[in-house]
Parts: sequence; structure tokens; C-alpha cells
Amino acid sequence: MENVRSLLFVPGDSDRKIAKALASSADAVILDLEDSVLPAQRPAARELCRSVLQSGSGKKLVVRINPLDTPDALADLAAVVRGRPYAIMLPKCRSAQDVRVVGYHLSALEARDGMTVGATKVLSIATETAESVLAAGSYAAEASRLAGLLWGAEDLAADIGARSSRQLDGRYAAAYRLARELCLLAATTARAAPIDAVYTDFRNQAGLKLEAEAAARDGFTAKAAIHPDQVAVINEVFTPTSDEIAHARRIVEVFEGAAATGVAALDGKMLARPELLIAKRTLSRAPQP
Ligand code: COA
Ligand code: MG
Repeated sequence: MENVRSLLFVPGDSDRKIAKALASSADAVILDLEDSVLPAQRPAARELCRSVLQSGSGKKLVVRINPLDTPDALADLAAVVRGRPYAIMLPKCRSAQDVRVVGYHLSALEARDGMTVGATKVLSIATETAESVLAAGSYAAEASRLAGLLWGAEDLAADIGARSSRQLDGRYAAAYRLARELCLLAATTARAAPIDAVYTDFRNQAGLKLEAEAAARDGFTAKAAIHPDQVAVINEVFTPTSDEIAHARRIVEVFEGAAATGVAALDGKMLARPELLIAKRTLSRAPQP
């Protein structure tokens, strides 16, 4: 998922919001067919999403289908795959086994529609039930389809029966922090992008920024958004600053420049291979001139 910092959710039955989302600076737009669309609206929403996909846009378009254990999932896939979405988002994903099953469905539909088999990526929401959180170790087996893993707290809180996912001080309670860290590690094992949860308090820009900064520090490469006003903050936080880019260039120069060495000192700190890998990752995320 190169160059994806922000993914904006939009209800798949709202042409007005979809138009706004496409005009926003979000790197990817997630057309939702699940929780934000009432069951009675789903047939119309599928058709709307298909026509949005087919009319094309400069953005990566993702469709969130319904969970695999509902009859809606196959109807969703059958309607939208022919529009060649960048990825299908799978909510309530229980383990890599669900990614495998979606992959089989996608392969059949891709073949039907004359597409390259394997072209459609999968983004799984990997922490919506306790069962899912505990299966985080399974994802490496499905690395080829999987482009990203997201975590989220609200559905997990409902599964647990908690009154809130937050402590009195505003921090996530331990079960949700565990879900976050397992998502990060699971994505790493599958070489998929770790994507931070939505921040539902969408008028609170300062809170969003703090949460996005913590995610970026910890290794998440993107954050999902629910409102267009969240996109600019997220894009800024996940874009390396010019100071960070300059520092990364100096590190690469130390290891790969004319006088390359295996270990070195820069500004009073030891540099070795881990710093080189991090520097290269920073440079790969630098804005293109
Ligand atoms: N994508 C595109 N446009 C959006 C948007 C989104 N996610 N959220 C809000 N907007 C639009 C509104 O339609 C409104 O435009 P308008 O004035 O032309 O009608 C404008 O941005 C300002 O919206 P605002 O009044 O601040 O918010 P709201 O009360 O209308 O909507 C939500 C609040 C939460 C219902 C809305 O942000 C939303 O639908 N978010 C996405 C929900 C979703 O997809 N959830 C599933 C994943 S968790
Ligand atoms: Mg949900």
C-alpha cells in the first residue's frame, strides 16, 4: 500500500458524501456497504458503489463488504469486483482463513470478469471480536492477497460486553491496546500495511493528532478516517518532515556512500543496520517532488 496515509470511510449509499470523499485529499476512499448502510439500502448501495468504481477516480477505491458469515457478503462481491476496486475490506475477519475464503471468491469473480487473478487486494479488520484478536498470528499465511490490516475498538468492546473501550483518563483500556499491538505485529508478519483505527470524536482535531502521532511513531503507516476534516491531519502526521528526510539521507550516506562502514556514529549515537532500514523506510515514504 505505497503512498497510502489516509483512508476515508464513506457510507456506500450516500452519493453526496461519496462525491465529497472523492474530492477530498484522502489517499484512499472506503465505500462502506456494512455498518453505515441499512440492510434495506444495500441493493441500491451496491449499484451506486459499482458505478462509482466504473466511473474511475484518481484515488485508490476500497469497498467494505459485509462479514463473510452473512448472505450479503457474496452479493456485495458479485456487484463490485467488476468495478476493479483496489481492495476489498473485510470486516469481522476471524483469521487468515477468512482472507483465504475471500481470496477464492475474488479469484472466481476476477476470472469471470477478465481481470488478472489476484489483482484485487484484501484489507482485513482484524480485531473486531475476541476470537479475531487471538488469531492475529495466522496472517502471514495469506500474505499474497493481504495489503493491510486494521484494528478497531468499538466492535471489540461490543463483543466483550464492555461499557467503554476507554479508561477514565481517555486512554484505551488494556484489551484494546493489546488488539492494537497485535494488529501491528500481525501486519508485520504478513508484510501488510498496519492501519490505525478510526478516531470517532471527529470534531477533536488535537486528540486525533496525538493519536495519529503515536501510531506513526509505533510503526503504523496509515490511519482510517470517518470525516473529511480528519484527512489533512492524518496526511501530515504520516508524511516524513524535511528534517526527517535529511537525517535519513545522512544515515544512508554513512552506510552506502563513498566511505561506507558497517557501524558508525552520527550526532553522538551508534548507527547500525536497524537505523539504516528505518532510514530507507522514511525515504520511501518521502513526498515525491
Ligand atoms: N465522507 C464524505 N463526506 C462526509 C463524510 C465522509 N465520511 N462525513 C461528513 N461528510 C460531509 C457531510 O455530508 C457534510 O457535507 P454537506 O454539508 O455537503 O452535506 C460535510 O461533510 C460536513 O459534515 P458534518 O455536518 O460535519 O458531519 P455529519 O453530521 O453530516 O456526519 C457522520 C457525521 C459521522 C455521520 C459522517 O461523518 C459519516 O457518515 N462518516 C462516515 C461513517 C462511516 O462510513 N462509518 C463506517 C466506518 S466506521
Ligand atoms: Mg464496525
